[in-house]
Order: sequence, then C-alpha cells, then structure tokens
Amino acid sequence: MVGRVALVTGGTRGIGGAISEALHLSGYKVAANFGGNEEKAKAFEGATGIPTFKFDVGDFAAVQEGVTAVTERLGPVEVLVNNAGITRDGTLHKMAFEQWDDVIRTNLTSCFNLCRAVIETMRENHFGRIVNIGSVNGQAGQYGQVNYAAAKSGIHGFTKALAQEGARAGITVNAVAPGYVNTEMVQAVPEKVLEKIIQRIPVGRLGETRDIVRSVMFLVSDEADFITGSTVSVNGGQHMY
Ligand code: CAA
Repeated sequence: MVGRVALVTGGTRGIGGAISEALHLSGYKVAANFGGNEEKAKAFEGATGIPTFKFDVGDFAAVQEGVTAVTERLGPVEVLVNNAGITRDGTLHKMAFEQWDDVIRTNLTSCFNLCRAVIETMRENHFGRIVNIGSVNGQAGQYGQVNYAAAKSGIHGFTKALAQEGARAGITVNAVAPGYVNTEMVQAVPEKVLEKIIQRIPVGRLGETRDIVRSVMFLVSDEADFITGSTVSVNGGQHMY
C-alpha cells in the first residue's frame, strides 16, 4: 500500500538496492540500511532520494538503535526485507573460525536482530510483511560454502517458525531463494567455477536483480495476506525444491 514504511537491509547495492528502488517507485517510504560502503551508499542516496541508515545488522544493540532512527524519521517499520548477506567462501578444511562466524552473524543472526526489533510494533498494529532472502545454496548446499549454506538454510527454518507465530497477528513471513544473480557477489566467484555453474542452470543464464524484485514486491503487498511461511525459489530451474 502506498505510504507503508519499508526497511531493506543491505539495501543500497545488488539485490537489496534493486528492492529498495522498486519499493520506492511503488510509493513505499523506504529506508535502505548498509553496513560499510559509505561511498556507494551516498551515491545511491543521491541517485534515488532513498534515505540510508548505517548499522551492523549482526550487532543486536546497533540494530535496536538503527530501527529507532528509521522509526523516528519515517514511522514504524511495516515491511522488513532481510537481505543483507556476505560470502566468505572456502572449503571447511581451510576455513577459519572468522569466516564461519562473520557469515552466520551477518546472514542469519541479522534476521533475529531485525525481526526482534520490529515484531512488537507489528503485533500491536496487527500488520507486518517480512521477507527473508535465502538462497538456492541454502536449499541445495554448495561446495565451499558450509558457512553460507548453513546460514541460508537457517533462514528458511526461521521463516517457517516465525510465520506460525505471526499468522494470527496479521504478520506474514516468507522467504525468497535466489539462484545465481548477476551481482558483485556472484561476479566474485572464480570464472571457471561460474562457467560450470551456469551450464547447470536450465534457463542458461544468471538471474537479474529484477527477477528477484518481482517476487519480493508480490509478497510484501497488502493483498498477499494468505501467503505465509512459503519460499519462492527464483533460480532459473537450477534446483527444484
Ligand atoms: N564439486 C566438486 N568438486 C569441486 C567443486 C564442486 N562444486 N568445486 C571445486 N571442486 C574441486 C576442484 O575441481 C578442485 O579439484 P582438483 O584439485 O582435483 O582440481 C578442488 O575442488 C579444489 O578446488 P579449488 O581449486 O577451487 O579450491 P580452492 O580452495 O582454491 O577454492 C573455493 C575453493 C573457494 C570453494 C572455490 O572453488 C570457489 O570460490 N567456489 C565457488 C563457490 C560458490 O559457488 N560460491 C557462491 C558465491 S555467490 C552466492 O553465494 C550467492 C548465492 O546465494 C547463490
């Protein structure tokens, strides 16, 4: 609905940036969170007019403060898109604890932190739309990604559990599971590895951010109130789940 307040984590770049822009163009009041890249965030804010909010989604106290800042500026968050995510790929036998911990904090603990910060107000207002961005690699696993696959798989379980809790309170909680999408994250995969991955995608190409945006827009709409606890897979047929 026009005028609803939406918060998108990792919302200034890649898939998150595209989601922020689409929500903004549809009349939502959007807050785009970012973690580190000030330069890109400033450029994004200048180009789109979407206010940006810097906080570490993996830090519980920082998220509480960040959500308070968003609420003071735009109003209570009605739509939350948990999109922030990082990769620290490596096989388990070479993986440092930090690679594990950074990914779990940023990709999974962030969902708890953000949902915890907005859920009470959503319950009071009897309305909420939460979309968590999972991954095909959380559904199918991926060589070199025990950390990322565990975090994304966790998101899918988190989504189904919170969906049950939110159902009677007017809050829907769904996941979108992208496949390999043409963003900086995927461009960082070694070329030879990526070539092999693309060969295994039935539609024969990487996804584009717009492919993911469409399903998010559908799930956050007021009319999607009977869809909760579901996962929309958008992966070009790479994994049929
Ligand atoms: N299955 C089986 N074997 C594999 C394999 C696979 N998928 N990928 C690599 N191997 C094999 C290699 O063929 C190689 O075997 P040989 O030694 O016999 O030649 C062996 O494993 C070692 O491979 P590497 O040389 O690549 O090992 P490395 O330690 O240098 O790198 C890696 C390992 C970091 C995991 C690297 O392979 C890599 O970056 N892979 C990409 C992982 C990936 O897909 N990440 C997704 C990022 S995008 C994302 O996450 C977004 C999303 O949601 C989809």
